[in-house]
Amino acid sequence: MYKLTRFFVSKEVLNKQKYFSTVVKEAKDQIKPWRKIPGPLSLPIIGQILHFLPGGWLHDRPIELQELLYKNYGPIVRLDGNLGFPPITFIFDPEAAIRLFRKEDPLPVRPGFDSIVYYRRHFYNKHEDDPIGLILDQGEVWKKLRSLVNPVMLQTKTIKLYANVMAEVADEMVERLKSKRNTQNMIEANLFTELNLWALESVGVVALGDRLNCLDPNLPDDSPAKKLIVAVHNLFKIMEKLDFQPSLWKYVTTPTYTKGNKIYSENLRLNEFFIDRAIETLKSKEETNDKDKSILEKLLEIDRSVAVTVSNDLLVAGVDTSASTTLALMYLLAANPDKQNKLREEIALNEEKNPYLKACIKEALRLYPVVGGNFRQTTKEHDVLGYRIPKNMNIIIGNQSLCLMEEQFPKPKEFIPERWIVDKNDPLYYGNAHPFSYTPFGFGVRSCIGRRIAELEIETIISKMVKNFKLDWIGPPPKRTRYCAINYILEPYNFVFNDV
Ligand code: HEM
Repeated sequence: MYKLTRFFVSKEVLNKQKYFSTVVKEAKDQIKPWRKIPGPLSLPIIGQILHFLPGGWLHDRPIELQELLYKNYGPIVRLDGNLGFPPITFIFDPEAAIRLFRKEDPLPVRPGFDSIVYYRRHFYNKHEDDPIGLILDQGEVWKKLRSLVNPVMLQTKTIKLYANVMAEVADEMVERLKSKRNTQNMIEANLFTELNLWALESVGVVALGDRLNCLDPNLPDDSPAKKLIVAVHNLFKIMEKLDFQPSLWKYVTTPTYTKGNKIYSENLRLNEFFIDRAIETLKSKEETNDKDKSILEKLLEIDRSVAVTVSNDLLVAGVDTSASTTLALMYLLAANPDKQNKLREEIALNEEKNPYLKACIKEALRLYPVVGGNFRQTTKEHDVLGYRIPKNMNIIIGNQSLCLMEEQFPKPKEFIPERWIVDKNDPLYYGNAHPFSYTPFGFGVRSCIGRRIAELEIETIISKMVKNFKLDWIGPPPKRTRYCAINYILEPYNFVFNDV
């Protein structure tokens, strides 16, 4: 009866319940099996799928999903999986999560993306065992790739070498936005596409060492740059259907699967176009200093297939992510003019360090994280919060809801960049939060390899924006959605770009 009530009860009633996360002592004899973990009512044969179908209380609510699960079931939640979609355990307790990961294998497995892994192995790679990239590979193959790329991409010193060219790209972007304003100082073009072009240009100069000219005012709609942006969006959308929702493609060839393969092929073809063009340009370039070499150039010296595979990763993972975070921060600054003014004052000082700018980016990633949850697959059995989690279980650490918890970040829904810079005696001090409750770039050895690039890109574009524009926002806050674990801010983008 209890379970049936849960199934039919209204969202409002469920939302009133609140659990506070605490790590329980795990007495071995009290450990319950995985099946006993709370979760939406599971019916024979169809499992929990009804909740996700039209009319179900979890249907089409990707952004609220974590919050709903946590509020209704507590710090550990079970989703059974169905129709090719594997079971998942959500953990909304940072201490429990950290304890689990401390015991995990040193080579973390990040699951998901099965359809593209299958495509790459069976239709694209010459040999089934060839690397398929940092995002998709696991185990020793991933480790080898990652250890080659880490020194090139994670050193702040190396990434800072790109500061001037990033500033050049950001200046062009600001001029482009100025030229696209209408009489109300609003941008009629799709602002997210515009930011994607900027992000592709920025990641291109670092990854490929070449200007891709995405910000060329005469760039046609069928240019490879615009096609690549569309292809990356399509890729995330189709992977959401194939790999993050119940789907039959693992059993029969479905129309969505066939469409997916076309998108994957188009995406790789466009990436290759840019990578080949950059390699050709390199051939005609004179020998450069090591410090002036692009990531592609440095990786080509190690191994061509590594260079191509990793450049491909950067072009896929480095565009929507930086563009979405920039869009989120632009909105938060527009909606909080006092914070925007404070930031403008800091930028006007023209000093090397900009602590308030960095704090604004951190706060934007807390309120609008691009990646909503950290995904891993267990490599062994674990006892967590009183339940036994089997080996090979998919785990999501609910980063998005953890960093909105009052007990971690006071006034959690407010944009308060100050929390990242205040003294530790201040109740807002970020250090009072559990370190695992804020992980926008993931965690451990598998965390985001593009972090330093993303930070430099966003710092550069936002400082240019507030220097040039007084950003305003008209109307209610923007809506969001999620494709394939990536959160997107939806149109309309009601910004007003007044001159400062
Ligand atoms: C604000 C922007 C960004 C955010 C919030 C972000 C976030 C993330 C997250 C959460 C992960 C998963 C980490 C984990 O599983 O522990 C990840 C992985 C990754 N990101 Fe980013 N990312 C951003 C920008 C970028 C950029 C600009 C690039 C490329 C230049 C990039 C390349 C990658 C790659 C290649 C991986 C896979 C790493 C691996 O598994 O070894 N990301 N990112």
